[in-house]
Formats: sequence, C-alpha cells, structure tokens
Amino acid sequence: MQTVKAVVALGKGQPVQLTTIHIPDPGPGEVVVQVLTCGVCHTDLHYREGGINDDFPFLLGHEAAGIVESVGPEVTEVAPGDFVILNWRAVCGQCRACKRGEPQYCFNTHNATQKMTLAEGPDAGRELSPALGIGAFAEKTLVAQGQCTKVNPQARAAAVGLLGCGVMAGLGAAINTGGATRGRSVAVIGCGGVGVAAIAGAALAGASPIIAVDIDPKKLANAQAMGATHVIDSSSTDPVTEIGRICGDVYEGAEGADLVIEAVGRPETWQQGFYARDLAGTLVLVGVPTPDMRVPDLPLIDFFGRGGALKSSWYGDCLPSRDFPMLVDLYLQGRLDLDAFVSEEIGIGDVEAAFERMHRGEVLRSVVVL
Ligand code: APR
Ligand code: ZN
Ligand code: ZN
Repeated sequence: MQTVKAVVALGKGQPVQLTTIHIPDPGPGEVVVQVLTCGVCHTDLHYREGGINDDFPFLLGHEAAGIVESVGPEVTEVAPGDFVILNWRAVCGQCRACKRGEPQYCFNTHNATQKMTLAEGPDAGRELSPALGIGAFAEKTLVAQGQCTKVNPQARAAAVGLLGCGVMAGLGAAINTGGATRGRSVAVIGCGGVGVAAIAGAALAGASPIIAVDIDPKKLANAQAMGATHVIDSSSTDPVTEIGRICGDVYEGAEGADLVIEAVGRPETWQQGFYARDLAGTLVLVGVPTPDMRVPDLPLIDFFGRGGALKSSWYGDCLPSRDFPMLVDLYLQGRLDLDAFVSEEIGIGDVEAAFERMHRGEVLRSVVVL
C-alpha cells in the first residue's frame, strides 16, 4: 500500500478537497499508474454536484495520461514504464456487444477490483468511488489493465491525455458514429471542447463544408482555428436556414448537412439539428442531456419523410486500443492539433478554480499537471 495526494469530493455540492488517499498494491489484473496529467471535465463537476449518483466520497479526474508504475499478477497488456492513456471502456470480451464483434459498445467494462480509501480526516478508511472508474486527480491511481492504452511516449501527456474522455467523445462522434468523410457536409452545434473536437474530427476525415454553430462568438473563433469552414452565431441567425443555405451553395440541391452533431445536450439544439439535416442525413447527439429533458414533440411524419438516422454517441463509440495509438500518431505527425485543446496547465490544488472557469465557458480544457 502507498499514500498519495488526491482531489476528492466528500459531499454533494461541497468544494473539492486536496487530501491523501491509500492505494493498494495491484492485485490480479490491476495496475498502479503514476499520473502525469489529468484534464478537468464536466463529468467531474457533475459527480461533485451529486448529479451522477450518491456514492460519495468520489475520487475525481478521468482524462489522464501516465506511466505504469507496477502491475499485479495476470497482467499481460502493459508493463512498468509504459506510457499510457487511461480509458473508461476496458472491454470485457464476454458481453453481448463484445461477442457480436462490436466491443466499442461493451456494457460491462472492467475497473480495478480493490478499493482506494481516504487516508486522513474523520472519514479515514472510507472507500472511494473513482470517477468513471478511474480517479486520476491523484499522484497515482489503481485501475484495471484494460483501462491503460499504451501509446507513443514522445507525445505530450497534457495533450494526448485528453483523448481519455471529452476530445475522444467529439472526434469519435464525427468519425466513428457519424461517419464523416470526403464529399460530405458536417454541422456541429455547440463548440466547447467536445464540439471543437468533432470539428477537428470532421476536418481530419476530409469533410467539407464544416459548419460551426454557437451562441458565443469566442467559441466560433476557436472552431474556425480547428477547421470550421463556416460559422453561425445562432443567437442572431437561424441555424437551420443558414446551414441549408451554405450546404446548398456547396452541393447543388442539398437542403441541409449530411451529418449534424449536437454537442450541447439540450432539446432545443437537438431539434435544430433534426431539421438542419439534408434528406437522409444523420443527427448524432454527443452533448449529455440531464434526466429531466425530453425528446421534442415533433410530427412523426417529419422523421419518416426525411429518412436518415438519429443516433447518440457514447465516448465517441471509441475502441481505445484501436483509436488512441492511431490518433496519437496523427498528433505526432502534426495532423491533429491536440495542443489546441489545452487552455491552461494547473496544479493539483487548482481543480475547484478550474471548475469555475469551465462553468463560465472560459476554457476548452484545464489540465492538471502532477
Ligand atoms: N446553441 C448553440 N450553442 C450553445 C447553446 C445553444 N443554445 N447553448 C450553449 N451552447 C454552447 C456553449 O456556448 C458552449 O460553447 O455549447 C458549448 C458547450 O460547451 P462546454 O460547456 O464547453 O461543454 P463541452 O465540454 O464541449 O461538452 C458538451 O457534452 O460532456 C457533455 O456535459 C457536457 O453537455 C455537455 C456537452
Ligand atoms: Zn463487453
Ligand atoms: Zn469526461
């Protein structure tokens, strides 16, 4: 066992605390990772606010890169010294999705079996719930071997670690779920970290035009820097009409986008996406709605008449072992600018302040560097 510094959420709505935790030695199939960097994601804030479940205390952080420190028995996929990105889709190989050959939809993914615990304070000894089964706002963390994906160690940890969650969600929504490609138009509604990653994915896949929609002009400037060919400020312009106009200018007869990615997570913007598609177009929801939100009340004939597909994208339908090494290689070749997602590097004591900046929409990603 060892004792390390970590950021935990002790109770609903309380500011997070920097404290110490105990990490067990790795058991069968488990790995201790020395964390190098970990991005601050909306989901960490949702855990702290009690929006995910009530299993406090939470060990926050899940967009991480690090070095394998030690491995338990039966670990064959990684070894001490490996540079890894952590993931929350450690596929099981046994569930229905895995068995039918679609492990990117695995619904029984692996986490560490042993528990990390609080090392100090009135709750010392209490078991921690790691965010998304990872818990990486910590000098070290305990995970299952499948949660570690080995990648090229020449890459900058703060940048490629973001593939562990939000950036992969956006890139994958465009490439994996939406099938963005050459000769197809893409519109992205909501240009925060996830939406901008979807734009980068669409650009990587050769799609054109790539239309960015947001209500914040600063976000539209980011989107352009990441590959958007057109921008629409939907606080003053109707995005459905404008997307249709732009696509019709580029492809004769087009009435909307071949692929629309909704990266806000709200019924109003989902509805805009529904109507901003060309005939037989695809809408992908990657923004995360809250449980009280409802699918908009639309005429069923509008769905029938337009055809196409309405999809959602969880973690960009990624398969970490397939997608992370490939995307890191593209990053190293200068074809995928992951550095652009790192708005700032911060210390492990600065997570609470980073939540506030994220909430105010000031950053794409703050990244804790350990
Ligand atoms: N129309 C267009 N854009 C909007 C609208 C709207 N009505 N409302 C908000 N936005 C924009 C914001 O201006 C912001 O640029 O959506 C973007 C959301 O970005 P972030 O808050 O940075 O969130 P991000 O990290 O990109 O995640 C997007 O996925 O992970 C979930 O909880 C997360 O639901 C959120 C979504
Ligand atoms: Zn499975
Ligand atoms: Zn996340």
